Amino acid sequence: MTTAYDDTQIGRARVTETPELAAYYKELAEQEAGALWTVANDIEPWYPQPRSVPTHWPYAKLRPLVRKALSLVAADDAGRRVVMLTNPGRRDVSAAVGLLYTGLQIMGPGEAMTAHRHQAAALRFVLEGSGAWTIVEGQKIKVGPRDFAITPNGTWHEHGNESSTTPCIWQDGLDIPLVNALDAPFYEVHPNLRQGSGRIVNSSLPTYGAPLLPYGTERWTRPCPPLLAFPWESTYESLLNLAEASEGSPFDGLIMEYTNPLTGGSVMPTMSAHIQLLRPDQRTQAHRHTGSVIYTVAKGNGYSIIDGRRHDWNDGDIFCVPSWSWHEHGNISQSDDAVLFSFNDFPVMRALAFHREEAYTDNDGHQLLT
Ligand SMILES: [Fe+2]
Ligand SMILES: [Fe+2]
Repeated sequence: MTTAYDDTQIGRARVTETPELAAYYKELAEQEAGALWTVANDIEPWYPQPRSVPTHWPYAKLRPLVRKALSLVAADDAGRRVVMLTNPGRRDVSAAVGLLYTGLQIMGPGEAMTAHRHQAAALRFVLEGSGAWTIVEGQKIKVGPRDFAITPNGTWHEHGNESSTTPCIWQDGLDIPLVNALDAPFYEVHPNLRQGSGRIVNSSLPTYGAPLLPYGTERWTRPCPPLLAFPWESTYESLLNLAEASEGSPFDGLIMEYTNPLTGGSVMPTMSAHIQLLRPDQRTQAHRHTGSVIYTVAKGNGYSIIDGRRHDWNDGDIFCVPSWSWHEHGNISQSDDAVLFSFNDFPVMRALAFHREEAYTDNDGHQLLT
């Protein structure tokens, strides 16, 4: 009798080692070759075996360390002054989970960085400070707490903080480990070090931030999305409106996707970003899917149970869910909603036909704590 995941069953590699085979493997190795059956079960596991582990980065612990970097290193010497979040299982590729990178960038009062562009796509979610700005392909974008902004891959960009008194901290999210895994990275420093920007700040918002789209010659024809910023106020209002109209998802509460208004699709070809609201006292059911997710607590207090372990979170905390890990979320407040921002590699999973999803059906959909 064989169990479902038994590697000794017929159909799996189960060759017994002999002195003749060992000698044969040596001969193969000398020709830069090998016998598939020696590694087959490892390289084709029954189901995903992520090297990333569920990890929780409390903002209260990280914030003082991020602020410390202000006096330790000049932004222009660092390129960008960022504390990156590294998964214990993915330090080799500087990933926070799977092939996704994230970090906390701090910019001091009055600072301005030089411009560059790279193959990796980037997104920003602001945690604190009101003076942050970024210029993307000549468009100046000002962002405040909980605002979301994107830097599509290959676009020139530079950042700064126009506040004269307070630093700002935003979260960067990039697909750097994915780009590197595919051997496709490029990086350029702007020839003039600065781009300069148009007269109108946040110009993509009035043009592409409404249900109506420009028509005819006004229509955007470049490959990257035309809308580069998503302010918190309208995002939160959309969530509250959805809460009036929908019960939401049993696994995610009320969840919405930041989208490219021209396609209705994800904001980047490699990464998608979501915002989700958990009603007071709401507890979602567990599910799992392929694809890695990095969550940031935008508002409220609650917990997520990931592979049987509970992580209690507060405002500004960041945590990750590796591919195929069971996860469910809870809002511990009886009176206030909780909001989670997240980004993921789902567009890659879907484009490559790797998307798979499963609901947790035992115990009313809730994991047992381990
Ligand atoms: Fe960059
Ligand atoms: Fe999920």
